[in-house]
Amino acid sequence: MGTRFLLLLLLGLSLLLGLLQALECFQCHRVNASGVCESGESFCQTQGSQQCFLRKVYEGDRFLYGYQGCGDLCLPMSFFRQNARVDFVCCSDSSFCNKL
Ligand SMILES: *[C@@H]1O[C@H](CO)[C@@H](O)[C@H](O)[C@H]1NC(C)=O
Repeated sequence: MGTRFLLLLLLGLSLLLGLLQALECFQCHRVNASGVCESGESFCQTQGSQQCFLRKVYEGDRFLYGYQGCGDLCLPMSFFRQNARVDFVCCSDSSFCNKL
């Protein structure tokens, strides 16, 4: 039993560490069409199951503005409304992965 138990313990620990590992994300209340953060520029650190997110708002093919931050329950998806489209992007593979 010895080695197998140890392996399981190591596996459990590494999963736990992976979950608890905090990421740094870009945070911005409004990124304008040139990709410049116009207000609320800072960084945030994910807690628990949070991920970095990026929301992008388009009108037709034109990028209008975006948001960046740390968030819970981020579902990667796009939704459409008339001519506008909002893309939700979430990532947790590396720090600052929510770069615009
Ligand atoms: C975005 O913001 C920068 C800095 O304020 C400004 O120079 C640029 O013209 C803005 N771009 C748009 C498309 O508004």
